[in-house]
Amino acid sequence: MPWRPFEDKRPSVPRVREGERDSMRIDILSLFPKMFDGPFGESIVKRAVDRSAVSIYIHNFRDYAHDRHHTVDDYSFGGGEGMVLKPEPIFEAVESIKQLMDEDAVPVVLLTPQGRLFCHQVALELSKQRNLILICGHYEGVDERIRQNLVSDEISIGEYVLTGGELAAMVVVDAVVRLLPGVLGSEQSVKNDSYAKGFLEYPQYTRPRVYRGWEVPEVLLSGNHQEIARWRCEEAIERTLLRRPDLLSKAVLSEEEKKLVDRIRARRGFN
Ligand code: ADE
Repeated sequence: MPWRPFEDKRPSVPRVREGERDSMRIDILSLFPKMFDGPFGESIVKRAVDRSAVSIYIHNFRDYAHDRHHTVDDYSFGGGEGMVLKPEPIFEAVESIKQLMDEDAVPVVLLTPQGRLFCHQVALELSKQRNLILICGHYEGVDERIRQNLVSDEISIGEYVLTGGELAAMVVVDAVVRLLPGVLGSEQSVKNDSYAKGFLEYPQYTRPRVYRGWEVPEVLLSGNHQEIARWRCEEAIERTLLRRPDLLSKAVLSEEEKKLVDRIRARRGFN
């Protein structure tokens, strides 16, 4: 076996702890692991980890570099500005994580502005996986052989370029974790998500009934649940028509909802 100077220093990839066997496991490869402390150490993601609905492991792939400077990037063959992430540390980090898993087809997702656009459907798809490996790219990008031979999916969180994949990985993890069973207070909260239904959310109010002279709509105080449901449905459709008509054209509507859409269109002067 070739001598590998940093082998002993490599962190052993944490095994799944007792009680976590049925939960989702997410492994994230990053050069900046501390960035995850805040978002994953608070609120719902933290609670999901504490309740073993998910286990999240952050790996610094610099630890998998072989040379004594722990080099992870190099110049681009052919010239050009910026550094490119080398294949060896990323391949070896992913391979050592995969060794612990009892399934062959673990999704390996590269966060990159060149990926498919992240949305509710993609979050839902990822939330059904038992294991997920996320790679946070940096600098000018990654060696193309990582894309072609290691990664199974590429995801972008929007049409803009971030300084690295970490913030994108946090967004993906947050959106996926809240969909896992038992993570949110009631299952209803997920079903009512605007993007799950194809509508934007209806307006919400809480106490006080009157604030600086602005009143809560009367119908919400009426106690008439049918009327309230109808009002909310109308408001959601109207808001979607005005702000995101593209969502409505994709939504699967009931007959009643279709009629409501037509009525609101007519009232608002849409054709
Ligand atoms: N890395 C840099 N920009 C990104 C984006 N928009 N989505 C995902 N990863 C990225």
